[in-house]
Amino acid sequence: MILFHEPSWLSTATALTHHNEIPMPQENVSNTLPVLPRIDRFQNLGYGMFLHWGLYSQLGCGEWVQHNRPVERKVYAALAKTFTAENFDADAWCRLAADAGMKYLCLTTRHHDGFSLYDTRGLNTFDAPSSPAKRDLVAEYIDACNRNDLLPMLYHTTMDWFWRDKKTYDLDQAEMNEYLQYLNDSVEILCTQYGPIGGLWFDGNWCRPDLDWHVADLYALIRRHQPEAIIVNNTGLDEQGKLGHPEVDSVTFEQGEPSFRDQSAQAKFVAGEMCQTMNNHWGIGTQDFNYKSPAHIIEMLCKCRKVGANYLLNVGPTAQGGIPDYEQAALRRAGDWVRQASDAVYHGQPLPQVQCAGDDFMLRVDGDADYYFAFRLGREGDAHVTLEGGGIGPRAIGNYDRAIGEIAWLDNGEKLDFSQNAQAGLMSFNATGYPYGTDLIVRIARLVPE
Ligand code: GLC
Repeated sequence: MILFHEPSWLSTATALTHHNEIPMPQENVSNTLPVLPRIDRFQNLGYGMFLHWGLYSQLGCGEWVQHNRPVERKVYAALAKTFTAENFDADAWCRLAADAGMKYLCLTTRHHDGFSLYDTRGLNTFDAPSSPAKRDLVAEYIDACNRNDLLPMLYHTTMDWFWRDKKTYDLDQAEMNEYLQYLNDSVEILCTQYGPIGGLWFDGNWCRPDLDWHVADLYALIRRHQPEAIIVNNTGLDEQGKLGHPEVDSVTFEQGEPSFRDQSAQAKFVAGEMCQTMNNHWGIGTQDFNYKSPAHIIEMLCKCRKVGANYLLNVGPTAQGGIPDYEQAALRRAGDWVRQASDAVYHGQPLPQVQCAGDDFMLRVDGDADYYFAFRLGREGDAHVTLEGGGIGPRAIGNYDRAIGEIAWLDNGEKLDFSQNAQAGLMSFNATGYPYGTDLIVRIARLVPE
């Protein structure tokens, strides 16, 4: 053990960092429920690509354009006659996801407008095979995911603006029951015609909380045909992290920041996932310039993994199915970071009891080491050219009792001085700054046990 100084808090247990911040517990919860293999597999994917693509993509104003502008029903339905999908190459989507460090995809097989990217096999003709595309795009998507070793998740709306020319908002319970038959028949197609799927990602029950959606029937259907499939049902912007039904395998934090959840009262451990737009629309918005940067993406991925949640980052393909240039570049750039972090990001388990300052946190990779994620570090250099050196210096950790033999930055292997009193659960290490020429946004240190 290398002692570089004796911080006062080693004896007083008052942990102060160079920021004069008191390290905060990551959270005071421990979840000891066993994790089902399908949920464990899903959690270890860590980072995925959401894809909102449909008729609305032709208008370039987001996926709610029909409702929000609004667009007259007939005018909107006519978009099915010009949907060509001519640039859709599912393997290209998969290559981008892999370059980005993503391990799964989630495609809108049917969104609120009611248009299906899959062959509805006679349920209606408002689907891709009946359009000029003349292809079952979901079949191609799932095949490509399988070829590229990526898990295919299938988004499917539950709120519908197309069925019988009505909107789910306006249904009474009797009509709702008929609509649910149509919905179940639709989902049954997805569960039976394409081989094993990663899971179903439902969205829309929030539009009519007053009605009975008979979700148990829908979920039973999935379990019957696809026992390994993950079930998600988005609780929406207002109810982040809520578990709506015990069959659900992962809760959502739409456009939010996931947090630790006390799961002690649940029947099973449930994963979490935060989905986020790349700008401010899910379906392509050609006049929305409010894009997230690679730096933002890296930080959000880390904040999700801090609490064991997945990060599902959205891309809105073009009308013809290509991925826009900014999204490609930003994802690939952030992917360079993800690849460096590798195991820590995918397989690191949260350590909720450990106290770190600011946004910093730690993860543990079973059978390997612990990883410290340092935010806002600052670059080493010359005062005439280097700004933001402020984050360099000691970082304190509390409530951490694993005896450590070595700490080193993951990116360059530089060993870091540290001081530890494992019995008291206290540690401090000297966070050297980014070497001039680099800035990783979040820098990871590997703590090897003694
Ligand atoms: C919201 C929107 C929907 C979008 C979804 C993604 O529920 O209604 O358009 O697909 O969020 O999380």
